[in-house]
Amino acid sequence: MGKSIRWGVVGTGQIASCFGGDCSHVESAKLAAICSRSEEAGADYARRFGVDHTFTDLDTMLASGMIDALYIGTPNTYHAEAADKALDHGLPVLCEKPMVMTVTEAERLFAKAADKNLFLMEALWTRFLPAPAKAIELVKDGAIGDVTGFHADFSFDMPYDRDHRLYAPELGGGALYDLGVYPLNVADMVLGPASNIESQWIAAPTGVDQRAAMVYQAGDVTARLECGFDRDTPMMCTIAGTKGGIVLAPPFYGAEEVLLARDTGTFASMAHAVRQQRSGEMAGVERFTYPHAGTGLEYEIEAASRTILAGETTHSKMPPEKTLEILGIIEQALAQPPVDTITLW
Ligand SMILES: NC(=O)c1ccc[n+]([C@@H]2O[C@H](COP(=O)([O-])OP(=O)(O)OC[C@H]3O[C@@H](n4cnc5c(N)ncnc54)[C@H](OP(=O)(O)O)[C@@H]3O)[C@@H](O)[C@H]2O)c1
Repeated sequence: MGKSIRWGVVGTGQIASCFGGDCSHVESAKLAAICSRSEEAGADYARRFGVDHTFTDLDTMLASGMIDALYIGTPNTYHAEAADKALDHGLPVLCEKPMVMTVTEAERLFAKAADKNLFLMEALWTRFLPAPAKAIELVKDGAIGDVTGFHADFSFDMPYDRDHRLYAPELGGGALYDLGVYPLNVADMVLGPASNIESQWIAAPTGVDQRAAMVYQAGDVTARLECGFDRDTPMMCTIAGTKGGIVLAPPFYGAEEVLLARDTGTFASMAHAVRQQRSGEMAGVERFTYPHAGTGLEYEIEAASRTILAGETTHSKMPPEKTLEILGIIEQALAQPPVDTITLW
């Protein structure tokens, strides 16, 4: 292996395109090959991101000797098969969220990767961003006193389209798997694992969850988390404390800015202003800004590449336990029948 990881990518859609562009910002990563179901889409991706090798068969790309690791950017229900194949070819894997659809499947793949001494990580990019890390540091340093509340929402309006992967059960659609992973991961990052969770969900016409709400209890703190693709919400994360509050600027899952108010009155008006998308200069508010060089995936790409180069199989910011913990919460939530109206709060 050289000084950079030669990544092979499977899938040429939205997130694979972000990955392709963001590799150019990472010294330890090189975009080496693309695998698409269609020659045209593969050729187009190769042209857009300067990739030398295109494939239409995953096994052929994995056996080509041209890549050191696989990035999986296909729909959710295709992740497990691609990860299995890469591990069988002795290659490390960075796999889009949700890594797979069940805890059992994730446990099996992590065991297989460990057995083969290979890196396998869910690509939860938010865990590698500097803005959430700053928010956590501020909380730990007591900047807002004791944490008293937490809220994170990730919803947008997606008109009904049976074929879109969010609506399609066969592609692993649903709000919790695609969007809910973010409020859940950020709650875990800031507050730690939940001691208790209550949840409710509303079904889309296809039966997948179109909206979900959770009450996430961590110690004394009750966090309210929501996700959905039936309406637009501010997509922000607020952390309230006895002495002030913090906002992870929208969209919180890719935040480039942390806002800090050191008194609770200022926090309330700051949160309101951000919700109204009027977050210019505000008296009493400190801003910490971390602009992405690319779309924000560069941090996880660098972390994954360096971990693989170091011969390690997991990264402390997104260890297997966290994938299993969050998948477990989602599975439990969806094991309940849907409701007509969310009444959790
Ligand atoms: N990290 C993030 O911020 C983020 C954001 C969005 C999505 N994601 C995750 O990334 C994955 C892909 O999402 P996306 O939004 O990029 O989806 P997308 O735009 O629909 O792209 C998915 C790609 O997968 C390939 N594919 C293989 N089998 C397919 C099938 N049966 N149906 C449709 N496409 C198929 C296609 O590429 P070819 O036609 O070239 O084969 C397609 O372009 C999902 O797991 C999603 O949860 C992550």
